[in-house]
Amino acid sequence: MCGIVGYVGDKSAVDILIDGLSHLEYRGYDSSGVALMTKNEINIFKAPGKLLNLIQTLRNEPKEKIDSNMGIGHIRWATHGLPTMVNAHPHCCNCGGLTLVHNGIIENYKEIKETLIQKGCEFKSQTDTEVAAHLIATEYGKCHDLKEAVSNATKQLRGAWAFCVMHKNEPFNIVATRKNAPLIVGVGDGENFLASDIPAIIKYTKKAIYLNDDQIVKVTKDKITIYNPDGTLANNKIEYLPFEPMALSKMGYKHFMLKEIHEQPDVVRNILQDKLKNEIDKIVLDDIKLNCEQLKNINRIQIIACGTSLHAGLVGKYVIEELTGIPVDVEPSSEYIYRTTIADEKTLVIGISQSGETADTITAIKQVREKGSHVVIITNRKESLLARLSDSLLHVNAGIEVSVAATKSYIAQLLSLYLFAIYTAETLNINSDKVREIKHELMTLPAKLEGVLANTSKIKEIAKKYSSYKNFIFIARGINYPTALEGALKLKEISYINATGYPAGELKHGPIAMLDETMPVLAVLNRGRVYDKVMSNCEEAYARQAKLIGVANYIDEKHQNLFDDYVLIPDISDMVSPALNIVILQLLAYHIAEYLGKDVDQPRNLAKSVTVE
Ligand code: AGP
Ligand code: GLU
Repeated sequence: MCGIVGYVGDKSAVDILIDGLSHLEYRGYDSSGVALMTKNEINIFKAPGKLLNLIQTLRNEPKEKIDSNMGIGHIRWATHGLPTMVNAHPHCCNCGGLTLVHNGIIENYKEIKETLIQKGCEFKSQTDTEVAAHLIATEYGKCHDLKEAVSNATKQLRGAWAFCVMHKNEPFNIVATRKNAPLIVGVGDGENFLASDIPAIIKYTKKAIYLNDDQIVKVTKDKITIYNPDGTLANNKIEYLPFEPMALSKMGYKHFMLKEIHEQPDVVRNILQDKLKNEIDKIVLDDIKLNCEQLKNINRIQIIACGTSLHAGLVGKYVIEELTGIPVDVEPSSEYIYRTTIADEKTLVIGISQSGETADTITAIKQVREKGSHVVIITNRKESLLARLSDSLLHVNAGIEVSVAATKSYIAQLLSLYLFAIYTAETLNINSDKVREIKHELMTLPAKLEGVLANTSKIKEIAKKYSSYKNFIFIARGINYPTALEGALKLKEISYINATGYPAGELKHGPIAMLDETMPVLAVLNRGRVYDKVMSNCEEAYARQAKLIGVANYIDEKHQNLFDDYVLIPDISDMVSPALNIVILQLLAYHIAEYLGKDVDQPRNLAKSVTVE
């Protein structure tokens, strides 16, 4: 993962780099570092752990060492080598004349390292990245041109990278390049920027250039020159960045996660206002490039995604099958890519990704594109690599999500899948009654979400009561089975409590052996198709003395005693209920983690964009 930033201009580079890195911390927080170009040399400062440690290190440095108008910075999510000081970026060549930061993995680093050692290079770290520093420096020794050296060196590498490189003989420019990892060039006035992602630079500029794979850019304070892989000059267009700096503030909430949970009614409202105005008119999805004939030709749908996006895909399966009758398979991208791809032009493939950067999903989508399948991408980042691989794009438009644990992007993905299912059914002219009902229910959703978020005292009470338990089981059936999976994932991610989601009917096939008074079972019950069945599974758990927590829109009197605790949610149809139920589980996970004093927005070992396979 990692986040990288580069700056060249008239301002204090270190301030801009640190500020930029602080907005990229969601990408990793194993260590951080900056390299600053001063008059005669490059000064490098690093610290293990969070960015705060680097800030403290810099405070003790003499002013002349950090007084600089050009530099590169890095925040690391370790792939090769422990998260230590020595492995922190920037890395440099032996003479210290060249330094670089890297996001990605160099797959053939071992072979290259051996050759470089034979040539006399001495390695200090265990990273794959250091190989690139020595290799580019070796190439520089031959041509004395940094852009040329980067071009010659990267031709020898395999894997994924975004690099920002500086050489002390070229004190007025940074050279950068990317392949299968993100990197944008921020266009300023008398200053220019490089960054892995928009939040790092949005305070300073709203204009950016996206680089294609293997393009190389040379950035000075007044000039941006982009070269194609064959050395010719490129003419990438300047694009306007979609965010407001405001989106990066916690707006008074203690954590981004809580802020983002509370934004959900507005996220849903915005999507509906845009795309679903009433129950009668057909919905218009301009970015779906599939007409009736093409949809009739589709005989199966495959949904590919990871983590929370995968759970959204599982809800999508129920909705799409119910409204369209087209069979849907849902698979984790990381599994999809390592078996024979069975997809053709009659297969519609939906890739879902909040970030649009997830390496596994990108690889999977590249594979199906080769099979001729139409690719729909559902993403929160319409400028992302994945979005660029789409035939049809559904931008979920949840606004920037900072917390590593996804919340509002999940609900926005659900909405996009509902809309896609409705669009398909309406285009095929089928199931109009079901379509109308689901439209009606969706339109009531923002107010119901607000109702839930207005009164969270019961959820906080339950969170406090259960925060000391070491294990949890989440159960549900049908369309809420993915809700159980997602609720368990949220709890695991931010509180490190072992939580597993099961289809409630599977409890008796094994997991029930674990039940006793030390095991809370959280059941999601929605009055509808499987309510009675889930209630019977709750009885089974009760009989084994498990602590039972209910999340339900209805619990009749005779069953209330079954539950140690329960939260009642507003009445809602089965089909739309996952979008309401999940909010209770997000809040429960949040408050448990809060009681336990965990780092809610930046849980250990995780990063928001997983750009490595
Ligand atoms: C969500 O809380 C997780 N951080 C993680 O599972 C995430 O959903 C997954 O890595 C996929 O990311 P994407 O949606 O950006 O592709
Ligand atoms: N492979 C590099 C390292 O471990 C960069 C990691 C990344 O981008 O995730 O330092």
